Amino acid sequence: MSAKDLFSAVTIGNLKLKNRMVMAPMTRNRATEGAIPQAMNVEYYRQRASAGLIITEASQVSAAGVGYPGTPGIYNEQQVAGWQKITDAVHEEGGHIYIQLWYCGRISHPDLLPDNQTPVAPSAIRPEGEAITYEGMKAFVEPRALEINEIQEIVSQYKNAAQMAKQAGFDGVEIHAANGYLIDQFLRDGTNTRSDEYGGNKKNRMRFLNQVLEAVLEVWPSNSVGIRLTPENSFNSMSDSDPQAHFNYFITQLNTRNLAYLHLLEGDMMSAARNVDYRALRDAYDGIYMANNGYDKTRAQTAIANADCDLVAFGIPYLANPDLLYRYQNDQALNEADPVTFYGGDEAGYTDYPFIKEEIAETA
Ligand SMILES: Cc1cc2nc3c(=O)[nH]c(=O)nc-3n(C[C@H](O)[C@H](O)[C@H](O)COP(=O)(O)O)c2cc1C
Repeated sequence: MSAKDLFSAVTIGNLKLKNRMVMAPMTRNRATEGAIPQAMNVEYYRQRASAGLIITEASQVSAAGVGYPGTPGIYNEQQVAGWQKITDAVHEEGGHIYIQLWYCGRISHPDLLPDNQTPVAPSAIRPEGEAITYEGMKAFVEPRALEINEIQEIVSQYKNAAQMAKQAGFDGVEIHAANGYLIDQFLRDGTNTRSDEYGGNKKNRMRFLNQVLEAVLEVWPSNSVGIRLTPENSFNSMSDSDPQAHFNYFITQLNTRNLAYLHLLEGDMMSAARNVDYRALRDAYDGIYMANNGYDKTRAQTAIANADCDLVAFGIPYLANPDLLYRYQNDQALNEADPVTFYGGDEAGYTDYPFIKEEIAETA
């Protein structure tokens, strides 16, 4: 094995990761009432602590940032107490864990929001498709365009969430600027038609992300903060007129920030299309680059060997294989993921995916 392979150590910020395998952020809709993490969530993350780094499921920075039933929050003391058990468990196992900070914006529904308020967005553009509510699927509504003072209020919610994350014992935070949620709605021109300083050109479209980042950096050192971007993911009714140029600009701007890492979901979750040159984006970025989307062991090893990335985030493979590291190291087959149990439910399809050592013991 060359020095730089999936199983080699790497330093990000002040953390020495034991390997370059990252558990990608995955919403599992299994928090309790009040958006509070519970015991089965502790077990789920503990099981996966052999990853070099875990990035938690997206966690809303305020009650108004929610977009789905059963997702955890990171804005009050009860939630901090719930998360603390998770960070303790992961640290006990020798792992590291960042929390993904989230504000859904237009990907929500009045049924889910405080006082049944209308979801907000940079511009009043209704997404195609349906929201998941407690009563099932309902058509998305037209969101209300945010006023400038409301944007500032949301920025301060990110700062509060960053403080709560620190209190809960996380090693760092990932700003979720991907997948069609509020920050991404500002970044991409298909959802941002504002004519004020938050829209109109790429510098203005990046202003909200920059302000969120600056608020978070008042709480965390820059090398404990990561950012996730999705230049061409069409998930959540997203589009952009020139992702290569626009994201090249955003990424270049981030160079000055000395972040822990830049995390890209490459391509489109909704199709095999890949119209962006990710090597060019990777080369535009000076720091640690984390690649994601459809990687398996072979692809990940090749990408790391070619210096196409420094870290690889695995989503579904980690969901279904708590011992993914062991399986990849020993070239063992993977458990198959069950999509029926992805979003919500109990321990089934959550903490009951077998470890390979258990399987071997059972068949011996
Ligand atoms: C069940 C599920 C939940 C997800 N939730 C999130 C999330 O909360 N935040 C996020 O940025 N991406 C989320 N994603 C996307 C994954 O992080 C990842 O980008 C995607 O699964 C592709 O990687 P993979 O091919 O390794 O699975 C989710 C994906 C799945 C399957």
